[in-house]
Amino acid sequence: MKRTDYCGRIDEKRVGQEVTVMGWVHRVRDMGGLTFLDLRDREGLLQIVFLSTFQGLAEVKALKSESVVSVHGTVVSRETPNPELKTGTVEVQADSFQVLSPVENLPFYPADKLESSEETRLKNRFLDLRKERLQNNIALRHRTTFRIRRFLDSQGFYEIETPILIKSTPEGARDFLVPSRLRKGTFYALPQSPQLFKQILMISGFDRYFQVARCFRDEDLRADRQPEFTQVDIEMSFVEEDDVMTLAEGVVREAFQEIGVEVPQTLERMPYDEAMRLYASDKPDLRYPETIVDFSDILQASSSPLAKAVAEEGGLFRGILFSQGERFSRKVLDSLNDEAKRAGTKGVFLIRYQDGEIKSSLKLESGELKALAERASLKEGSALLLCAGLLKPLLPLLDQLRRRFGTLVPGYRFLWVTDFPLFERDEEGNLAALHHAFTHPRLPEGMDLLEADPLTLKAKAYDMVLNGNEIGGGSVRIHDPRMQEKVFRLLNLTPEQAEEKFGFFLRALRAGTPPHGGIAFGLDRLIMLMAGENSIREVMPFPKTTSGLCLMSETPSTVDEAQLEELGIRVATEKAPS
Ligand code: AMO
Repeated sequence: MKRTDYCGRIDEKRVGQEVTVMGWVHRVRDMGGLTFLDLRDREGLLQIVFLSTFQGLAEVKALKSESVVSVHGTVVSRETPNPELKTGTVEVQADSFQVLSPVENLPFYPADKLESSEETRLKNRFLDLRKERLQNNIALRHRTTFRIRRFLDSQGFYEIETPILIKSTPEGARDFLVPSRLRKGTFYALPQSPQLFKQILMISGFDRYFQVARCFRDEDLRADRQPEFTQVDIEMSFVEEDDVMTLAEGVVREAFQEIGVEVPQTLERMPYDEAMRLYASDKPDLRYPETIVDFSDILQASSSPLAKAVAEEGGLFRGILFSQGERFSRKVLDSLNDEAKRAGTKGVFLIRYQDGEIKSSLKLESGELKALAERASLKEGSALLLCAGLLKPLLPLLDQLRRRFGTLVPGYRFLWVTDFPLFERDEEGNLAALHHAFTHPRLPEGMDLLEADPLTLKAKAYDMVLNGNEIGGGSVRIHDPRMQEKVFRLLNLTPEQAEEKFGFFLRALRAGTPPHGGIAFGLDRLIMLMAGENSIREVMPFPKTTSGLCLMSETPSTVDEAQLEELGIRVATEKAPS
């Protein structure tokens, strides 16, 4: 029997015709006189009817869900159409059927209403992926990627592959390493991104490059982070920030057409400092209209013991006005306050009107309360959550409160965050690049990089943010080798170390480099948001757990002694004596 149609594609045009369909048994229902089989393939479900006179009816009735079968029959109109089903107006009256692959009992079934645990799902991903939701997500991913490819081709981009086995030049996260057999004791690294190679492609004259590139980062995982993920990686020559941003806007506009969402021609832009001030985040979720207000000046000279303590340690008062003030009962406030203290702040305080009077959980003078209420535009029914403490723990707390109690206005809210600082201080107090070491500083005219106060410098960098997720990031790059050397020096690399790590790249930069810039989208995050999912695992066919495991194939795994021997590697099972 040869397949003539997809199950999910049969419609009224086929009524009266003979078809052969193949797929998985979704479920069998024995209705006495008639037996119904829902047959499923990639395109959807189709109802098959077996009359009581059907030869081999007993075998049909005994079929286990998820067996693979082939059915031949005639398409007929359904007496009672099922509007929930794409093929709901028709059914196939079977005249013969064949089991192509029987199954034993399975850990779960795609037809199950209840979701299994994530562990069971990932262990049996081959089954999990049969679910309609995941089938749709993977199909959406395919169609969107295809659209992006076509769009970039139409804009003159070449799709070029860059190597997966590269030199270890960590970009922020840890590298995954691959030992070399031929040169024992040396290692390749898996790319955290194709950054240096795409820049070299610009130096080589390809002008416009893109790649749907797999990237590898050995970092702590979260719902929006995987150790291997996919970027739509883009680089362009002879451009400034605006050129790359316009192109990137074209990419998301094209992608979102796939789900019928119109993305604005130009996206809103916000400098990093403003994002941090108003939203306490470099990826603000603009679906929540609430913004953060600073009250520090009002309470600077306050006689309240807490305000004094805050002022002494150089802390701040910042707050957010929320609607539905009655949500913040004593109990809610106490637990918020505990949370805030555990997070290293001085606490959260509630200020609201009650019976025409301003009530505050922090004892303040009436003049101070009035000034706070006025600045916050406090009204009857609303509530001001006032947070106190040092800036560092205060910011994540404010960001969290805003997204927890803010008024969500559904939709897709895109935003460019621009003017990032070029450097930050890492945990050891050293300068570190906020984006990466190849980002062009925004230098005042005539100023030498080494003369400037590095922490005040801004970068020609931009992140695209969607609903509070960073979906892409990029920058204009340094194309002057001397400037690149200076940045390496600021990042604490001696000229020798820079040469050792990045010598090949510096040689390339000295060989005639066009001004260039680019961006990389996180494809998994983009598809996650388009699909309305909460985790990128739901749009990746074979994701890893948050502890970096593939439960299905049990990876990572130990390897043979012989394999290790060949690579010249000995595993230290015990901590070596110091
Ligand atoms: P960046 O590190 O910002 O930039 O990465 C670009 C985008 O990739 C996505 N992303 C991830 N997605 C899933 N899991 C992860 N672990 C993960 N890490 C990052 C994010 C992010 O915005 N070479 C530069 C780009 C450039 O400058 O052109 C880079 O990799 O959506």
